[in-house]
Amino acid sequence: MPKIKIEGNHQLSGTIDVGGAKNSAVALIPAAILCDETVTISNVPNITDVDDLERILIHLNAKINRGENKVEISSENIINKEINEDLSKKLRASYYFMGALLGKFGKVEMYFPGGCAIGARPINLHLKGFELLGATITEEENHFTIEAEQLKGNNIYLDFPSVGATINIMLAAVKAKGKTIIENAAKEPEIVNVATFLNNMGAKIKGAGTSTIKITGVKYLHSCFHEVIPDRIEAGTYLIIASLIGKDLTISNIIPNHLEALIAKLNECGVEMEQGIDYIRVLEPKEYKATSIKTLVYPGFPTDLQQIMATFLTQCKGRSVIEETIYENRFLNLFELNKMGADTKVLANNQKAIIKGKTKLIGTEVNSTDLRGGASLLVAALIAEGTTTIDNIGYILRGYDKIVEKLSSVGAKIEII
Ligand code: EPU
Repeated sequence: MPKIKIEGNHQLSGTIDVGGAKNSAVALIPAAILCDETVTISNVPNITDVDDLERILIHLNAKINRGENKVEISSENIINKEINEDLSKKLRASYYFMGALLGKFGKVEMYFPGGCAIGARPINLHLKGFELLGATITEEENHFTIEAEQLKGNNIYLDFPSVGATINIMLAAVKAKGKTIIENAAKEPEIVNVATFLNNMGAKIKGAGTSTIKITGVKYLHSCFHEVIPDRIEAGTYLIIASLIGKDLTISNIIPNHLEALIAKLNECGVEMEQGIDYIRVLEPKEYKATSIKTLVYPGFPTDLQQIMATFLTQCKGRSVIEETIYENRFLNLFELNKMGADTKVLANNQKAIIKGKTKLIGTEVNSTDLRGGASLLVAALIAEGTTTIDNIGYILRGYDKIVEKLSSVGAKIEII
């Protein structure tokens, strides 16, 4: 597997353009098969998760025409066959084919999805939703057959506002008979982006972005053109980089509102930034002070930025505390950060970590443990003294479009070896 090599401690100047949101794109692509005509999605990031979804579409005989950041998907000749274990396990978002195929054909056969090993990540809430819509589920050794003669709208309360379950239930319900109400739905911007896409095709979804989503089933979904929203996690990653080593670095093509929790925390630590409608600019790093963060569902502090924020906190004076409430195993990167000189400690229950700063980071060989863990090491490498080599970068390439090119263009000494 290739590695990323970074010579650290070079100031970064210029502008980084943020691409389309991974967690939106990976739902929009499976959602596209619900369309009875051809759909076009723009601002699609070039990441390996999208490559893996393309493989599933081809396996199902859908037609996919992929340009630089655009995909055209036509499902007229789609064949509803089992998605084999290899394809299902390639990524987490393969689970959106459960809702999409169930919604389109009333049947889906596939395996438990893959994704980063950051916790147990069950799909019980997705399955509960499908059952309440009238589907029966047969599970044998990670193989699922989910089928319904006729899906019928229902009231579905989610015990936890799961992003995946909310989207999957929307996909299954959009062509179901009657009205579905999802209570305690997730409110992430990606949910709104998917609902808007489905509405652009003629679906009737109201309330996306609030905790109650109402869906009235329709029979036909027509062609549309849709744009993926900017990736708030990619934006947040670059904003943290700008705060640490930017010299007039602008992060553009973003929706600053989607980053409120991160911006508030960075401000609290002492980061000074200029905010525009679609950009944030950091003039230079300052002396920062420690803080505490607790991950929560949107609009709380996003778990997907927690690991990258951990790197930031190694550069803040004092004792910072991170509390992870969404996943059970999202601190693996801290062991790698310690190899670079950080002073971090994961507490016994694995849900809290203490970071003492400010510590000098020194380049060494580290291992990417998962997507955002890999990004946290990459940020550490950019500010470290000397050269860092990051192994297992497949994780990083899953979610960051052209990361090496984007960072090189603002002055980073980074290469894939
Ligand atoms: N959960 C359940 N049962 C379910 C579904 C979820 O217990 O049926 C639990 C999970 O185990 C987890 C929590 O609920 O502890 C949150 O899970 P959620 O369903 O919200 O997350 P997800 O759909 O699996 C998506 C993103 C993640 C992101 C989370 C939270 C995709 C493909 N993945 O995951 O992205 O962390 O929402 O925002 O959209 C990443 O990008 O690095 C990433 C991991």
